[in-house]
Amino acid sequence: MGNRLESLRNEIDKLIDKNQPKESRYFVSHLYGVSQFCVLLAVRRGLNTELAAACGMLHDIYQITAGEREKHAKKGAEQAGRMLKKIEAYSDQEIAIITTAISRHSKKHIVHEPYDEVLKDADVLEHCLYNPDFPVSEKEMARYNNLLEEFSCSTRGLISAIQSCY
Ligand SMILES: [Fe+2]
Ligand SMILES: [Fe+2]
Repeated sequence: MGNRLESLRNEIDKLIDKNQPKESRYFVSHLYGVSQFCVLLAVRRGLNTELAAACGMLHDIYQITAGEREKHAKKGAEQAGRMLKKIEAYSDQEIAIITTAISRHSKKHIVHEPYDEVLKDADVLEHCLYNPDFPVSEKEMARYNNLLEEFSCSTRGLISAIQSCY
């Protein structure tokens, strides 16, 4: 498909193949999963879905290229900004929204601006729903519970609905 989100995804796929082929399953499932949860949350919260999708695709980009988590949000935001400028398909204002969301995404205990919150919540949803048999981490529990409330479902109800699909 010839649109800018697909161009961005092609660039990220190349980065994964080149830098972390052994962890490609994690990065592909996580980045695409977060991106799609960003779209769902953006629909629900009246935000631009395509911009939200780009936030999700790029948010852990530094982990892919550097192979480390330390300060990956801040460093990833700078890296994403350079990539978005190079693609020449995003305005300065859009780049600012995306890079700000990336730079703040590790601060799950703070409430920031709407796109920042979409990205943080999507990251939590992907972690928590990746495998419903895995425990939810302590630091993501409060946000996860808020999301279950937002979508009007209990943890037990959501998990049994997911498991019935397996
Ligand atoms: Fe991250
Ligand atoms: Fe992430």
